[in-house]
This record gives sequence, C-alpha cells and structure tokens, in this order.
Amino acid sequence: TQRTLVLLKPDAVRRSLVGEIIGRIERKAGWEITALELRALDQDTLEQHYGEHKGKPFYEPLVEFMSSGPVVALVVEGERVIEGVRQLAGPTDPIAAAPGSIRGDFGTIVRENLIHASDSEESAERELKLFFPGRA
Ligand code: GTP
Ligand code: MG
Repeated sequence: TQRTLVLLKPDAVRRSLVGEIIGRIERKAGWEITALELRALDQDTLEQHYGEHKGKPFYEPLVEFMSSGPVVALVVEGERVIEGVRQLAGPTDPIAAAPGSIRGDFGTIVRENLIHASDSEESAERELKLFFPGRA
C-alpha cells in the first residue's frame, strides 16, 4: 500500500471546489484520507517543494500563486494511490486534460491547475516529510 501528498491549490480553495475534489478521492475504493489541514505555505516550504523547478520561467509566478491563499494539504493512503491521484488530476495543462479528470473538468490555466499530487514513491516520501514531519 502507498501514501501520497495531495495539495488542493489556492484556486481550488478560492473557488469552493475543495468538497468536490475531496469527494472524488474519497469515493475511490480502499483509499483513506489520514491527514487533512487548511494552511498557508511559507516561502521556505515552497522552495523545497518546488526545488526541481527553480530557474524555470514559471517558477517565480508558481511560488507567488501557491502563496496567494491557503491550500488544503492531505495525506491519502491506499492501493496504488500515487499513480491513482495523478490519474484523477489529469495532465498538468488543464486544456490537455480529459473531461472527467479534476483539471479537465475545472481548469483552463496551466498555473491554476487546482491540485498537486506526488509523482513517484520518492517524491511522496520527500513531500510527506516536508508537509507532515510528525507522521513520516
Ligand atoms: P504539481 O502536482 O503541482 O507538481 O503539478 P505537475 O506535477 O502536474 O507539474 P510540474 O511538477 O511539472 O509543475 C509544477 C507546477 O508548475 C504545475 O502544476 C503548474 O502549476 C506549473 N507549471 C508547470 N509547467 C508549467 C508551464 O509550462 N507553464 C506554467 N505557467 N506553469 C507551469
Ligand atoms: Mg509535480
């Protein structure tokens, strides 16, 4: 069984899509939300979280967007949950995301794509330690 870090980004919170998105995760068989918190992300956390993108043209606006309001951070556990939540989210660019996916149903702007989910077991481990240090 796997664990993944999910962030409902500030656009999801502002647009009152938190219940809708969490509902889709909750309805998947055998998955469990084991931590959930509304919180503001500081610069240091964001720098560590998105360190792989430092220096890319979208990095600065991404960090600014991610600190523009609170996010909802969740830990989700269950069968193949890392790949599974990425699949529910859809591709990074919401216009390329199929209807039925979270980004495909609700997004248009690449930066404001509603949800983050860890992309591998290694990322999940690192991100869970960063966001929920007590639980690792
Ligand atoms: P996250 O779950 O947020 O990490 O998204 P992702 O894994 O689908 O994408 P990635 O890690 O490659 O990029 C992180 C975030 O940067 C994306 O979710 C977008 O918000 C933003 N981003 C990525 N690529 C681009 C881009 O080409 N242009 C812009 N404007 N934003 C981008
Ligand atoms: Mg990513």
